[in-house]
Amino acid sequence: MRTLAIRGATVIDAQGSRRADVVVSDDGTIVAVGSGLTADSSLDAGECVISPGLVDLHVHLRQPGNEEAETIDTGARAAALGGFTAVVAMPNTEPAMDCVSVVREVQALAQAAVCDVVPSAAISVGRRGELLSPMAELVRAGVRVFTDDGRGIQDDRLMRTALEYATSLQHLCSQTIVLAQHCEVESLSSGGYMHEGDWSSWLGIPGQPAEAEELMVMRDIALCRLTGAPVHFQHMSTAGSISMIRAAKASGLPVTAEAATHHFSLTDACCASYDPVFKVHPPLRTESDVAAVKEGLSDGTIDAIATDHAPHTPKSKQQTFADAPPGMLGLETAFAVANTHLDMPLESLLAAMSWKPAAIAGLTADHGGLIKEGCPANLAVIDPNLAWTVSATDMVSRSSNTPYGGMALRGRVRHTVYKGEAVVVDGEAQR
Ligand code: DOR
Repeated sequence: MRTLAIRGATVIDAQGSRRADVVVSDDGTIVAVGSGLTADSSLDAGECVISPGLVDLHVHLRQPGNEEAETIDTGARAAALGGFTAVVAMPNTEPAMDCVSVVREVQALAQAAVCDVVPSAAISVGRRGELLSPMAELVRAGVRVFTDDGRGIQDDRLMRTALEYATSLQHLCSQTIVLAQHCEVESLSSGGYMHEGDWSSWLGIPGQPAEAEELMVMRDIALCRLTGAPVHFQHMSTAGSISMIRAAKASGLPVTAEAATHHFSLTDACCASYDPVFKVHPPLRTESDVAAVKEGLSDGTIDAIATDHAPHTPKSKQQTFADAPPGMLGLETAFAVANTHLDMPLESLLAAMSWKPAAIAGLTADHGGLIKEGCPANLAVIDPNLAWTVSATDMVSRSSNTPYGGMALRGRVRHTVYKGEAVVVDGEAQR
């Protein structure tokens, strides 16, 4: 057994912060936390915080089917550079992750990755919103999060049935099964490429109204009340959605929510460049929506910060705004974007990026836990004050569609430790 000491940092976890060195071993556990500790090798972490590894509830890794844009290997490396030790992979692959064989393929490919890649699975067969996927089999294969992400479930009755069924499946794994919804009423959003508002009118780009998201949030809160099943709201982007979720939580409903980094750092004004790098679903919204997302994160209405990391090849993004696919990269910039754009104490920021999402996805056995002897050695070592400028060409992701190219940010992941191995050292991926 070889040991590695991370020295000179402030340790922050759900129990608070303290100065301590942390020693991990290559069997994947934390062996000691304290001062004056010895180890076979060491990493400097002066000026840094050591946090449980970050957890992303929402990434698109494109494998199987679109390996030109990303693979599980490259996406996991991008995640590790961003301080993530676990990511939940969305099922809009080709074929979709709607059956055990595709989920098993992702799990097998994930074995060699530099972070945990946890497959979600589709709620409906082919993400077509017509028939339920074989949810019981998928739960037996280890799936805890179901979503048709990229699309919302349009049919009210199908969503009700999925929620009821999910509740009845809890006994198969003694864990919560979460239905995560991409809220978008397609009869309102189709034909729209950005947020519908002043900017879409000025630019002449057809828009999607905020109500396309909000009507589905409203419906799913109602179905959550009807069925008692937990609902997780993905990439919440409008002030109206957030106030409905705030009220639902206040009335005791089992709802959780995430916000994507771009929805609190960019607005629909970015689309004035007509650059499809700013095209995303749900679309970038107004300044007042951005303010509402920030407030939702500050008061805990929004539990988690996610990336919705959505790689697309340069060729596919080099089309008109209407024709280019929606989506932007997020993994390598997430902490810095959140740290720069949110006015939240570091402890709360790390809660939203580590232990709260770990709890939502049922990953607390390995991620987001306390930093103490005997616990899993999945850690992020972050310098929260380091200033840097994003370069789209420096991304380790196979794609380069970051909207943050050239932007100055504060805070950078220095080292990432996954299962006791330093997979990122001084901002460089080690394998
Ligand atoms: O912008 C988006 N891109 N939103 C989604 O829901 C899907 C994603 C993708 O897969 O590219």
